[in-house]
This record gives sequence, C-alpha cells and structure tokens, in this order.
Amino acid sequence: MSTPERKCLLELEGISKWFPRKRTVKDAVQHAERQYVKAVSDVSLQIYEGENLGLVGESGCGKSTLARTIMRLYDPTAGQIILDGRDITRLKGNALRQERIKMQMVFQDPYSSLNPRMTVYEMLEEPLKVYHFVPKDEIPQEVDRLLRISGLSPEIANRFPGEFSGGQRQRLGIARALALRPRFIIADEPVSALDVSIQAQILNLLADLQEELNLTVLFISHDLQVVRHISDRVIVMYLGAIVESGKTEDVFDRPHHPYTDVLMKAAPSLDVDARTKEYAIEGDPPSPISIPSGCKFHPRCTRCQERCRTEQPALTTLPDGRQIACHFPLNTDSP
Ligand SMILES: Nc1ncnc2c1ncn2[C@@H]1O[C@H](COP(=O)(O)OP(=O)(O)OP(=O)(O)O)[C@@H](O)[C@H]1O
Ligand code: SF4
Ligand SMILES: [Mg+2]
Repeated sequence: MSTPERKCLLELEGISKWFPRKRTVKDAVQHAERQYVKAVSDVSLQIYEGENLGLVGESGCGKSTLARTIMRLYDPTAGQIILDGRDITRLKGNALRQERIKMQMVFQDPYSSLNPRMTVYEMLEEPLKVYHFVPKDEIPQEVDRLLRISGLSPEIANRFPGEFSGGQRQRLGIARALALRPRFIIADEPVSALDVSIQAQILNLLADLQEELNLTVLFISHDLQVVRHISDRVIVMYLGAIVESGKTEDVFDRPHHPYTDVLMKAAPSLDVDARTKEYAIEGDPPSPISIPSGCKFHPRCTRCQERCRTEQPALTTLPDGRQIACHFPLNTDSP
C-alpha cells in the first residue's frame, strides 16, 4: 500500500510533552532549575486515511503519552496537532469535544474504561444520547449494530461488564469506541493483556473493522510480531523521539537504526512459547529527566563514535520515504 498519495488525516508538527517535576525544599534552597520528565520531544509525523500505523519502542519511551497528547487528554508542551485539516492544538470546551468525536481510544485494559455499574446497553447508549448522535427511537437498533460489528450477541445487552471474559471485554471496549463512528482509532496495547489465542481474534476483528469502516489506526504495541502482522507503516520511538519510520516490511527486513536493529533481534520469534518473553536489550534506557547529550541512544549503541556523543542526529527522510535519525546507519550508504 503506498501512502504518499493518500489523504493525511492527522499531522503532528514538533509535538513535545514534558511533565514538570515537583520542586523539593532542597531545590528551592539551592535555586535549582525546574526539572522535567521529557516524555515526548519534538515528534512530527503524518497518519494517512485508512492506514494502520504501528508505534513501537521499549516501555517508557513515550508511546502512551504521545497517544494521550494526540487525543488532547494532555495539553502539548510544544507543537501542533492538525486533525483532518483543522488545528486542534488549543481547542477547548465544545469545539474540542466535537473534534474529539472523530478520534477514540482502545485501551489495554478495557475494564478500567468501562463503568462496572452500567449494563452493556447503558454503556453503549450513553455516548449516543450525550451527543444526540442518532434519534432517540433508533438507539436500540444502533446498540444492536455496535454489538454485532464487534462480534457480540445483542442478547448480552442487559449484562454487566464484570460478567465477561477478557476478550469479550475488549470487544465491548471496541464497541464503545465505535459508538460515535470515529474516523481515527488509537489502540494502545489492545491485546497485550489477553491470552495469545484470544489476541489473534481481537487483531482480526480490528483489521476487519478497519477495512469495513475505513478507519485509520494508530496501533501501539511492544509486541513487534503483532505490529508486523497488522501495520502498514511503523514508527520506532526511543526516549521520547522518533528514531526510524517506514513501511513495515522495510523496517523489519532492513532496519537502518541500530536501536531498531537490536529491538528486532531481541524480539521473541513467532513461536507461541517465546512470545510470552519480554525482549531484552543491553542496559536500561536512560531516565527521560536527564537525556544523554548528542544521540540519545549513544550510551547503549555498539556503533557509537565520538560524533554521536556530542551531535544529535536529525531525523532525515531518505528518497524512499524512510526516516532515520542516526549518523552511522545500517544497511544503507547514506544517512
Ligand atoms: N502523568 C505523568 N507525569 C509524570 N511523568 C509521566 C506521566 N506519564 C508518563 N510519565 C513518564 O513519561 C515517560 C513515558 O511514559 P509512557 O507511559 O508514555 O511510556 P510508554 O512508551 O507508553 O510505556 P509502556 O510501554 O510501559 O506503556 C515515562 O518515563 C513515564 O514515567
Ligand atoms: S548516531 Fe551513533 S550512537 Fe546514535 S544510533 Fe547512530 S551510530 Fe548509534
Ligand atoms: Mg504505554
């Protein structure tokens, strides 16, 4: 699937999200500068209509913070968010609510986002009522439709979320996310809490819904094999920034960034037993409070040279559309 000729649905321009750390008494006495957790720094990307864009990287690299910033659940520290041609970076109140309808999230733990005291019916009718999305007398049919497209029987409408298995709860989370007919879904680790056998069913459901409803999906996962299976393009993040992006098969088959390379090599293989193991890379990522100078990856990179310690590599776009932030990339002659 080629992306450049497709319509851009979401564009991020230089998005940063830094969380200020609380000042201690010692900081005040020493007049120390305020410190920040630099969860996301200067991220620019485009997501094209109908595509599935994978977002991968180690725990703590800023994937969920980026997702929440796109949803405007966090205010960005810097940068611009353009949704369907409209700048939503500073929208507030009703104007923001109206734009947010176009985007919905599917979470790792759907139970935390489902009200345990509401029946399935009440849970699905709520957004339809709040947004006057369909005429009142059509709500029952709409709830039926949402359950059916999510692979659930309309007969469960009077039951409570606590009565369901993990896979069924995730289907409910998906039904709820689809209630307002969004164009863009952010799925943040949607299958990582599920048994492997159930994971495939939910992934297939997401892929089918994406096709049928022409959804655009940002698919966040630390499971590279899942991303390989479902995503058209992939973005690799390290310590709050994009280090590589490109078509999924290109990035997986010929990684250019040394971090992507070790991430792929350390990822479990497709065999089921291995898939439960976490990947392991030498050392831990540095703290997002004190980010290394030069290339952020240099303390852990086996290809590190003097230049890497002082000069931050810019994210460069190659002629084939691949993006890479490395002074000495792999599998290519030019950075
Ligand atoms: N509300 C917050 N306040 C302060 N720091 C935060 C906040 N949310 C996230 N962080 C920090 O920002 C960094 C990025 O966190 P984030 O949850 O975005 O990572 P992630 O890539 O989603 O990780 P995981 O794969 O474990 O879900 C981490 O160091 C985290 O501790
Ligand atoms: S810039 Fe240098 S340290 Fe950073 S990833 Fe490339 S080779 Fe490694
Ligand atoms: Mg996360």
